[in-house]
Amino acid sequence: MKNAFFIYLIIFLTSELCQGRVVQVSKGPLVRVEGQAVSLRCNVSDFEGPSEQDFDWKVFRGNVWVQLISTFDLGFADRSLQGRVDSGDITVERLDGNAVELRIRSLMSADSTTYRCSTPSTDSVIQGNYEADVQLKVIGDSLKVAPSPPPAIVVEGAPLELSCNATRDIVEDAYTQLSVTWSVGSGAELKDILTFGPDGQVKAGARASQRYTDGGIRLILHGGGVYSLVLTEVLPDDGGMYTCTVREWSHEVGGAWQQILERSVEMGEVQVTPTAQSLTVSVGDENATLSVDDTLNLTCSITTGNLAALGLEVTWLMSPTPGGGPVEPQVLVQMSRDGVVEGASDLLGLTRVGAGSFRLLLRGVDRSDAGLYSCRVRAWIRPTGGDWYQAAEKTSSPIWVMVTVKEPVFRVTLLDGVTPQFSGDPTELECRVTDVSQLGNGRLGVSWLYAEATPGDVAASGSARVIASLDAQGNIQPGEGYQERVGTGLLVLSRLKPDSFRLRLLHTMDSDMGAYSCAISAWTPTRQGGWESSKKVHSEPLNVFWTRKSPRVSVAARRLRQASAAGGTFEMSCQVTAQNLQNPSYSVLIQVEETVGGRTRKVLSLSPDSVLELEEWSELDRVVLEKISPKEFRFRLYQVQVSDRGFYSCAVTAWTRDPGPGKVWTKAISSESNKVHIAFEDTGPVFNVSVHSDTSSVSPWETAKMQCIVKVQGTSPNEDDVSYEVKWFLSHWAAQGSSLLASVDRWGVVHKGPRNGSSDCSVERTDARTYRLSVHSAQESDAGQYYCMTTPWTRSPTSTWTRGRDLTSNRIYLTVNFALWDSMQRPLLFGAGVSLAVGILSILLGLICARCCCQNALKMARPHTALSDMEME
Ligand SMILES: *[C@@H]1O[C@H](CO)[C@@H](O)[C@H](O)[C@H]1NC(C)=O
Ligand SMILES: *[C@@H]1O[C@H](CO)[C@@H](O)[C@H](O)[C@H]1NC(C)=O
Ligand SMILES: *[C@@H]1O[C@H](CO)[C@@H](O)[C@H](O)[C@H]1NC(C)=O
Ligand SMILES: *[C@@H]1O[C@H](CO)[C@@H](O)[C@H](O)[C@H]1NC(C)=O
Ligand SMILES: *[C@@H]1O[C@H](CO)[C@@H](O)[C@H](O)[C@H]1NC(C)=O
Ligand SMILES: *[C@@H]1O[C@H](CO)[C@@H](O)[C@H](O)[C@H]1NC(C)=O
Repeated sequence: MKNAFFIYLIIFLTSELCQGRVVQVSKGPLVRVEGQAVSLRCNVSDFEGPSEQDFDWKVFRGNVWVQLISTFDLGFADRSLQGRVDSGDITVERLDGNAVELRIRSLMSADSTTYRCSTPSTDSVIQGNYEADVQLKVIGDSLKVAPSPPPAIVVEGAPLELSCNATRDIVEDAYTQLSVTWSVGSGAELKDILTFGPDGQVKAGARASQRYTDGGIRLILHGGGVYSLVLTEVLPDDGGMYTCTVREWSHEVGGAWQQILERSVEMGEVQVTPTAQSLTVSVGDENATLSVDDTLNLTCSITTGNLAALGLEVTWLMSPTPGGGPVEPQVLVQMSRDGVVEGASDLLGLTRVGAGSFRLLLRGVDRSDAGLYSCRVRAWIRPTGGDWYQAAEKTSSPIWVMVTVKEPVFRVTLLDGVTPQFSGDPTELECRVTDVSQLGNGRLGVSWLYAEATPGDVAASGSARVIASLDAQGNIQPGEGYQERVGTGLLVLSRLKPDSFRLRLLHTMDSDMGAYSCAISAWTPTRQGGWESSKKVHSEPLNVFWTRKSPRVSVAARRLRQASAAGGTFEMSCQVTAQNLQNPSYSVLIQVEETVGGRTRKVLSLSPDSVLELEEWSELDRVVLEKISPKEFRFRLYQVQVSDRGFYSCAVTAWTRDPGPGKVWTKAISSESNKVHIAFEDTGPVFNVSVHSDTSSVSPWETAKMQCIVKVQGTSPNEDDVSYEVKWFLSHWAAQGSSLLASVDRWGVVHKGPRNGSSDCSVERTDARTYRLSVHSAQESDAGQYYCMTTPWTRSPTSTWTRGRDLTSNRIYLTVNFALWDSMQRPLLFGAGVSLAVGILSILLGLICARCCCQNALKMARPHTALSDMEME
């Protein structure tokens, strides 16, 4: 060995020094795997001669060099190797004029030996080396690659471990290393993800390098030949066929790694299910029916293959269904990815009760909570080292939540309190609620309804309209067309008791006839503090009718006093008869027509409030119009004059009081009476004469006074245009005929008649029409019937005096009394000093005188009483 070393050293030094031919082969020893190909390169430099050099390859076998192959001699190969050369298993390939390559396509273990490349000399001087050796070590193919098949389906976000078991036998003196490459795809699309080895290096593929840096791809060396690549979160485009490629490397002289074996094994196809596909969100399929105040308890169940890898954002949505279809969903409550709840309250809560269960609790539901409930889930993924991204959003199919109200139960009866008989009467209806249950803290309200109807209708025809309503809080809402009557209080709604309501029409009109009904609503308090109507029950309709009677009024005029002459008094009564009127009051107008059908003149009137008013009449002191009973009026006309003659009648108007606030009188109907005639002949003045005395008896010696009074009736003539002749007569009982006592002529001159007794008489005019007769010192002969006779003289407008008819007065009686009592009065008047004897004498005298006078008294007694009767007439 030592000698050989020195020989080589000398050769080396000489070649270096002499710059001779240099033949070089690959530096060995080379380790190669049985069955694999090998190429051994050989070149020559620093030679002389042709540029294309020839090369011979020999192999050292069985301690001898055996010829293998030559570039110029086809038969160069030893017989033992000729077959392999011929089959092309062993070839020599010229790379250049000075370089060739020995190629063995499939190494055998026997090929593990030393190979020598030599060049025949073309140099002028043999200088340098003409051959070079390289040692080849052929090791067995012991590489085993056994990947663990990955799961065929992986959900997005889940980790994926790709595990590959690679082992080979370790051969002494032939150290090799392995590298493992994971790739995905197939054929040309195959993309390397990561390569580990040889020599502990890690090389990430272009698309994976950032992810590897971020930690999203991790390498795990389990030992025992097991290499794992872990994708911490699978992404949607991570799907495909995974391949594990294991390479065996040999560490060449000079430090380079030479791949000597490669084995690829398909690990398996991996399909990535996107979260959107695997995510299911459900709130169950059972519709919920709750009662008011119940608790709504809904669970949002989320399933997905990679629940743990997801950040979940859960939102409960609700679409109220007011009457028609659902409206836009509203967010009720929401839980963010990191568990923060938004929108929760005392009544509303959202909690996570399991990995994929989110519970919504809504306490004390009311009707506004009814609707469609759904759960919206947003799934977020954060790849290791990366940012959150939303992988999926899904909303469950909604379920119906129905909230039923425990409806109050009650019955409604409509009763008629007061039914009108006439237009204008009040109407009173009562709406009574009975058999109430389940009202709780609810309240009742009422709506009064009216529908037109005819008396025959059993039920109301046509649609009912609201008169007015009273709600739970007592607010009154008048219906269309009733505002004014409600406002003025003519239509009154009231709550008599919590369960009894009344409608009053103070003044029912004809147009109010129809069918009435009431509708009771039950109001329940809402969560917001208001009230909502939960149930309505209608009563049976009730008909309100009366026979419509037209009011009638008539008036009859009746004469009470006839003015038969001018100056008289006319009196007329107006009697009213009325029908079908409610509490009427009458106004009266007295009117007069001079001729039938002629001009009508209004005299005076009395209003329904009894205010008297002169119409076309000026003398208030001559007319009177009085109401003497509600239905009777009296008209009086004093001092009837010629111009007052005519046909008098009364016009009566019936008034009813309007129910309005002003209580004004409304004219109902009018009527005129028959006509009463004031008619008399214009006879000029009429005279009447009478006598009058204050006393009918006088004592003897006393003076008797009597007046003869002339009265003028009818048109009274002027004082200057009339004068009177007056005569006084006395008619004795005993004698026939009368004797003239005295007379006054029309110029006032007094004449006395002849007288027999001691008495005297005189006549004097005490005023224009009174003539007084005085009988002085009356005697018995003066007793008798006195009367006077008057003859009026009137002066016509032509100043001619006309003598009127003789007028005889009534008669009055005068007695001259020697009465007993008169005699007795004297002693009593003169006191107690008069003696009893004088008294007795006086009585005796009285008795004697009485006997004489009794005859006279008896004679006069009968006519006296008869005359008294006459006077009374
Ligand atoms: C000849 O071969 C050796 C080893 O293979 C190499 O290092 C060298 O560069 C080659 N020379 C030429 C001129 O090709
Ligand atoms: C790897 O493969 C070798 C050879 O087939 C075997 O002995 C070994 O148990 C395998 N290791 C694992 C972890 O499967
Ligand atoms: C839930 O209620 C709705 C509306 O009432 C109805 O259309 C649907 O069929 C119900 N679903 C179930 C499962 O009862
Ligand atoms: C909600 O319902 C679930 C099951 O359906 C039950 O376990 C839970 O106690 C209920 N929660 C309430 C507050 O009622
Ligand atoms: C005259 O007057 C008296 C009493 O006043 C009466 O009774 C009588 O009828 C009158 N005579 C005439 C013609 O008017
Ligand atoms: C007076 O007496 C005479 C004779 O006795 C008698 O005729 C006459 O009528 C009386 N006259 C009167 C006024 O009485």
